[in-house]
Amino acid sequence: MIAIGCDHAATEYKKEIKALLEKRKEQVLDCGTQEGESCDYPVIAEKVALAVAGGKCSAGILICGTGIGMSIAANKVKGIRCALCADVFSAEATRLHNDANVLAVGQRNMGIGNVLKIVETFLDTPFSKEERHARRIGQITETEKRYFK
Ligand code: RB5
Repeated sequence: MIAIGCDHAATEYKKEIKALLEKRKEQVLDCGTQEGESCDYPVIAEKVALAVAGGKCSAGILICGTGIGMSIAANKVKGIRCALCADVFSAEATRLHNDANVLAVGQRNMGIGNVLKIVETFLDTPFSKEERHARRIGQITETEKRYFK
């Protein structure tokens, strides 16, 4: 199951991405917000991040105006590696190298065609499992343990 969430700046893109996920026969956990409801992006980011960190969902997708606020907020949840991606190359690289488990994109600064390709690439690319990448992710986890309760 894929968790998805957006703020009021990105309800259109959430609809488009949900349609893509449904076409791919993915189960979707919609963490809001719904059209017309103004909200604070950290609240939505936390819901999506907890669904992924807790194992209920295998990946998360967050959308706000730029994707920046969502990515900052999601990365405060232990176990989350949220990648803000504005291009397909980054979406592929962050899965191969960082084993990112949440994707953040922006509605105000990215075209929808590009965003849909980014989402597909993110979901279709497995972690490389290469030793050097696994080692570096392990180091991130160690850093997390030192500073996050
Ligand atoms: C909302 O106006 C905007 O600040 C938000 O969507 C996001 O871009 C924050 O990073």
